[in-house]
Amino acid sequence: MNCTKCKTKAVIDLPRHNAAFCKICFNGYIHDQVAKAVKSDRMFGKDDRILVAVSGGKDSLALWDILLKMGYKADALYVNLGIGSYSEESHRKVVTFAETVAAVHGAKLHVHTVQEEAGAGIKELAQIIHRPACSTCGTIKRYQFNRVALEGEYDVMATGHNLDDEAARLLGNVLHWQDEYLDKQSPNLPASVEGFARKVKPLYRLAERELAAYSVLNRIDYIVEECPMAKGARTILYKEVLNRLETESPGTKQTFYWKFLERQKQAAPAAASMAEKDQAMLHPCSVCRQPTTAEICSYCKMMARAKTHAS
Ligand code: AMP
Ligand code: FES
Ligand code: ZN
Repeated sequence: MNCTKCKTKAVIDLPRHNAAFCKICFNGYIHDQVAKAVKSDRMFGKDDRILVAVSGGKDSLALWDILLKMGYKADALYVNLGIGSYSEESHRKVVTFAETVAAVHGAKLHVHTVQEEAGAGIKELAQIIHRPACSTCGTIKRYQFNRVALEGEYDVMATGHNLDDEAARLLGNVLHWQDEYLDKQSPNLPASVEGFARKVKPLYRLAERELAAYSVLNRIDYIVEECPMAKGARTILYKEVLNRLETESPGTKQTFYWKFLERQKQAAPAAASMAEKDQAMLHPCSVCRQPTTAEICSYCKMMARAKTHAS
């Protein structure tokens, strides 16, 4: 198998593009796909300050690496969730990347440790507030991403969601016809109200397998293990179903998700309708000032309960 572009020996084949690439041309392909996403969705420019949310996994570390190599100003945030050895190892991987690769580009790593602020890790917190661990985790991550982006005056925050993540999420939203979630499923979410940071997903054109290959080929040391709390999650099943379809007919995932985005753009600009809805429903939390639909936001309520429990 030879590289479609330069005809030397290929290291990866991409059936959905009917192509195969050597390492150099594959890196070029990855950077081109990110450049396309950034440009077509007007995500950010060379002067913008980007905050990348890094989990220690392949996607988000690859994203940080790609953005720095493309010459963007990108710092990162890691949220240590306090999930035993999983968090310890992912934390180590993020710090190693920050010290070896990111530091060369002058980029900085912010770390938020849940245990320090809440006095408990995710598992214990979830028990205290009687909510599933994953939704407790989601509330904390969303809150901290937004807080650090605003406090650090970043122009935009970026996550490592890839094509597989977005296609699986779309499948879930369509199977249950969750209109509100469908409206919000965009790789470029504007800051609909003051107090919310703009959020982008520059990897939405790249498959999980391609990002794993990018990380291995570029010697990015990432945590392979998935979060132990995610076992049995619906999205894992949706990903398996989509992978089966992709094997039978390469390109299924990208057609499914990209065509949805085209339709979304044509129908009603998601951004405008969402901003209207958000502005009508949200106001500042009376404790922390982040936007919320209630008097006190769910994060502040959670922290209050954690503190009462500890005392
Ligand atoms: P996941 O929900 O685990 O699929 O993660 C989706 C994206 O959220 C990742 O690509 C990261 O950008 C971000 N993310 C997930 N977990 C963390 C974390 N603990 N700290 C910072 N960012 C995270
Ligand atoms: Fe949040 Fe696993 S990453 S519970
Ligand atoms: Zn609050």
